[in-house]
Amino acid sequence: MEARLPDSRHQGVTAIVALDAIADGDARGVTLECDGRKHELIVVRRGQRVDCYLNSCPHLGTPLETFPDRFLDRSGRRLLCSTHGAQFIIDTGYCVFGPCMGKSLARVPVAVAEGMIALAGQIPSPPEPQR
Ligand code: FES
Repeated sequence: MEARLPDSRHQGVTAIVALDAIADGDARGVTLECDGRKHELIVVRRGQRVDCYLNSCPHLGTPLETFPDRFLDRSGRRLLCSTHGAQFIIDTGYCVFGPCMGKSLARVPVAVAEGMIALAGQIPSPPEPQR
């Protein structure tokens, strides 16, 4: 999904998704078209705080979820890769359990303004999968 903020004050800002489209304490997958490429993102919301990562597991480079928008573990405190069970700290994307322990998800810089979550920097390259 690519969207532009309608307000002319935000010209050139790439909107990702509305903040209220993600329930507090939940996560959502978003496809962002930017610079002619599609990027699969995980967006996690906790109150006004938003963390965003490329949806690419550092273990094998696969998307984390099996079912749409199911990124969190049962506690809601960690991101979970459904392929082999890697667990990631939401604040940092750092893997604390599983086959890619010590690696991190690639953080996408975002900002929240006027109810929209927008890109706030360069989209990173995905993490190099383990061999
Ligand atoms: S692909 Fe994510 S833990 Fe293996």
